[in-house]
Order: sequence, then C-alpha cells, then structure tokens
Amino acid sequence: MDPSSPSVQEPPAVVAQGLTRKFGTRVSVDNLNFSIAPGELYALLGDNGAGKTTTISMLTTLLAPTSGDFQICGFSGVRQSEKIKAFFGVVSQDISLYNELTCYENLKFLAELYHLPKAAIAARINELLTSAGLQDRAKDRAGNLSGGMQRRLAIACALIKSPKVLFMDEPTVGLDPASRRQIWATLKELKKSGVAILLTTHYLEEAELLADRIGIIREGKLVAEGTVRELARKIHDLRGISFKLSEDVAVASAEIKAKLDRLAAALKVTVNLDPLRNTVYISQPEGTELSAYLRSIFDGLSAENIEFHTFATGEPNLEEVFLALAKSEAR
Ligand SMILES: Nc1ncnc2c1ncn2[C@@H]1O[C@H](COP(=O)(O)OP(=O)(O)OP(=O)(O)O)[C@@H](O)[C@H]1O
Ligand SMILES: [Mg+2]
Repeated sequence: MDPSSPSVQEPPAVVAQGLTRKFGTRVSVDNLNFSIAPGELYALLGDNGAGKTTTISMLTTLLAPTSGDFQICGFSGVRQSEKIKAFFGVVSQDISLYNELTCYENLKFLAELYHLPKAAIAARINELLTSAGLQDRAKDRAGNLSGGMQRRLAIACALIKSPKVLFMDEPTVGLDPASRRQIWATLKELKKSGVAILLTTHYLEEAELLADRIGIIREGKLVAEGTVRELARKIHDLRGISFKLSEDVAVASAEIKAKLDRLAAALKVTVNLDPLRNTVYISQPEGTELSAYLRSIFDGLSAENIEFHTFATGEPNLEEVFLALAKSEAR
C-alpha cells in the first residue's frame, strides 16, 4: 500500500455524528456525519455562510453542538472535551498571533504552555520555522510579517504540539500563489506523517489538488461527499475551455452566434457566451478525451473562421457544481 494513502485499519481520527448547531431558529450546521482517517485530508467545500467555521468551532470545542456528538481520536467531543484538546491543532480563519512577540517567541510561548520537554523546544521551533520558510524571520515581530507569513506562522503554532488532527479554516484565502504552494507542501508532508487534516475552502481547485475526499456543505447540510475522482466524474460536463475573441468581432453578433451554433451542433458541445468579456465557453462533454476534445474545438473554430486571442481552461464555480451534482443525483 502507498504509505502516504490514508490508513484503512486505524480508527478514524475525526468522526462527526449528527453534528448540529442552531443560532436561534437558524440551523447553521444541520446533522453532519463524516469521518476522517489518520493521514487523510478532508476538504469541506462551501460558499460564504455555508457553516464551515461553525463546524470547525464545534470540532475544536469553542462552540457546543446543539445536538449530535463527535469524536477526536476515539474520545467524545461532548463528554470528554478537555481530553481531546491534546490531539488537535487549529488554524482559525482570523489569525491569532501575539503581534508584539517575535516568531520564535510566539512558538516558544506555546511550547511552554503545552509543557514540551525543555531540552527539545529550540530544535522543534527551528524545525517548524524552517518548514514554514520563516527561518530568517525568527527575530521579527509577528505583527510586522506579511499576511502570508503570518498565516504560515499560525500553521507552525498549530503544529508545535505535534497534533494528530489539524483543523484549518480557509488557510490560503488572500495569499499569493507562492505562499499557497508553500502551505500546500506543508499539508502534503503532514499527511505523509499520518496527521488527519480537515480543511475548509471556497476553492474547488484547492480541494481537488489536496484532498483525498471532499464534502460539499451548503446551508449547513452535507450535500455531496466523495473522493476527488468521484466528484470530478459527476461534474465532468462543467469542465471546458474559454476563448476570448479578437476585439473586432463581437461574440454577441448574429454572425458569430450562427457560427457557434453550427459548431455546437457539429461537436455536440454546449456553448455559452459572455458578451461582457467577449468570451465563448465551450463544455467538454462526458466521455471525451481531453486531447481529442481540444483538437476538435480548435479545428471547429478554424473551420468557422472564428479568431480568438487568448484561451483558458475553465474551472466551474461552486454554484455550477451544485447544479451539476443535483442533476446527476436526479438522473
Ligand atoms: N455566533 C453566531 N450567532 C448567530 N449566527 C451565527 C453565528 N455564527 C455563525 N452564524 C451563522 O451561521 C451561518 C454559518 O456561518 P459560518 O461562519 O459557519 O459560515 P462559513 O461557511 O464559515 O462562511 P465563510 O465562508 O464566510 O467563512 C451563517 O448564516 C452565520 O450568520
Ligand atoms: Mg468561515
């Protein structure tokens, strides 16, 4: 077995059972059931207000569930909430660091708080600073770091006690590509060492890249769950390619529309137009192979004499994913 793949023998690191939270009459998290194995990364994917932070707040004992329970490493989150704290680290959506302390001091403070063996503290801090790419910022105050660096320091802080479970609430929002990649690399290393990770994100791409399984949460409910491959198969139709047409041809003109209609019929693809961006979106139909699909589209555009100046592969947004999943469930 691939040592980096999640273990099937070990008991789950996280289990949510009917986890529910109401605020007044609003049900913000509605009967969630899922589990995460050691070494598995589970991405909870959802829009603003879907219930991601509320779920993490319950799993990290900041918020009591209205009903339901959960387990961390076999202990009940409701009945043994003090006990489970030893097992997890958390990186919250709003970063909490001691801004007046240096990077090194932030980590040292936590190491002492968690009673790490004194002799091991310096080496552990240096190891974490290096893996966060912050080794040369050890003496800088946390408050003076860039947003991306602060996020990386917050992750290092969550890891100081070598947790078995890591909760991360949108760890890469607002970060540049290099910082994101650095965090992704850290997560992959953690997975290899057997840490179970629950990550929330708005980004389908991020979930696909990192997660072993994805749960899609909408209005507090888990509306879909599966491996990345299972979900990707269901939303296959949504993948496609977009072409920004040359400025001298309007995508909404009758002539171009007629040409695109012909192309759509000949290739059995769906074509959508965005006049604002002067862009054509062409779906990749289920069962087609990418290279053959691309070739047929380029040939089709060339046969119809449609000039474009840029093209890109299209990622569906979450709304489109929900609709596609609902459609595939109904089939
Ligand atoms: N303390 C609270 N009191 C009342 N309502 C709350 C509270 N916390 C969260 N909610 C409500 O619960 C719902 C889910 O919020 P939550 O913060 O969990 O969403 P989210 O998925 O984390 O969104 P985002 O992507 O914006 O961070 C929202 O309707 C929110 O207004
Ligand atoms: Mg949130």
